[in-house]
Amino acid sequence: MKALVLSGGSGTRLRPLSHTMPKQLVPIANKPVLAYGLEAIAGAGITEVGIVVGDRIDDIREAVGDGSRYGLRVTYLEQAAPLGLAHAVVIAREFLGDDDFLMYLGDNVVLDGIDELVARFRADPCDAQVTVHPADPREGGLAVLDADGRVTAVEEKPKNPVGNLALMGIYVFTPLVHQAVRAIRPSARGELEITDAIGWLIEQGHHVRGHHYRGFWRDAGLIDSLLECNQAVLDHVGPRILGKVDDETEVIGRVFVDERATVTRSRLVGPLVIGPEAIVDGSYVGPYTSVGEQCVIEDSSVEFSIVMDRALIREVRGVHGSLIGRATSVRAAAEPARGGHRLVLGENSQVLMA
Ligand code: TTP
Repeated sequence: MKALVLSGGSGTRLRPLSHTMPKQLVPIANKPVLAYGLEAIAGAGITEVGIVVGDRIDDIREAVGDGSRYGLRVTYLEQAAPLGLAHAVVIAREFLGDDDFLMYLGDNVVLDGIDELVARFRADPCDAQVTVHPADPREGGLAVLDADGRVTAVEEKPKNPVGNLALMGIYVFTPLVHQAVRAIRPSARGELEITDAIGWLIEQGHHVRGHHYRGFWRDAGLIDSLLECNQAVLDHVGPRILGKVDDETEVIGRVFVDERATVTRSRLVGPLVIGPEAIVDGSYVGPYTSVGEQCVIEDSSVEFSIVMDRALIREVRGVHGSLIGRATSVRAAAEPARGGHRLVLGENSQVLMA
């Protein structure tokens, strides 16, 4: 079985972060979103992986390379425009050949592996298998299952869902799906929808099975779910102080400090991670916080947040539930600002003042 990992798309729901980085590379506990999927795929014993990429191909290629660090062989498949999940299957036709394949949406994060769903399909094949989880289906898709676990209907982003099973971005397809993606037409939003392809398989009388996923899953293409993923991963972080932490620093709970990080005169309350070459001084870094490479946090307090590489937080208290993008600075004004706060924010930024 091969895997097809979708890492193109526009990521409009993750702006402004997605203006400058593909959403699949946003860090969760200092590891890109996409890495969680690739590790799950390798864990299920799949090695041949096609990654669908759009205009961010260079960033994705730089992060993943040939896949060998994950034990995978990666082929990059360029999608000229984000024309839909089913369109990604169309452009991958040659790579997929006549093999069964796992389709994995690169912004999905699972923390409990996908071995069971892959093993189930191998042991008891069907025409297509979708993965479902009890969650609000309005942001993604809805699946309706009968008593035997057979999928009787699917709906893309339903406004008034008739059930509570969300479609996860993990599917197993047989070559029949190639007929389905050729039979359907673009939706009102101009995309070839994978839900329409699955609907076509159901209409044609093929056996589409719903597999219940029992572990942790989030679609990390949304701001809140990124922070939830960060929390879930940090709950399992191995506490280790490898870097320089001085005697004036208090460390409580599951705290990971990279060997090239420096922490002085601070209070660290885990779970949290502090990345390579980060400097924390005179600060409180609280639970569920990821501090990226080369960040500087001085005389500040931060908790429940993702602070990305090279960000600077200086003399600012009460940063909470925040996503601070790469090389961003959040500082107190050197002198009391005359008119009030000074904000230099890119398009689609969000600031909530307490
Ligand atoms: P989506 O989150 O459905 O779409 P999107 O990336 O365009 O995001 P938004 O709706 O916020 O604008 O995509 C799911 C995954 O599939 C994600 O990893 C991007 C990828 N994708 C492709 O590779 N090609 C495509 O044509 C589309 C639509 C998505």
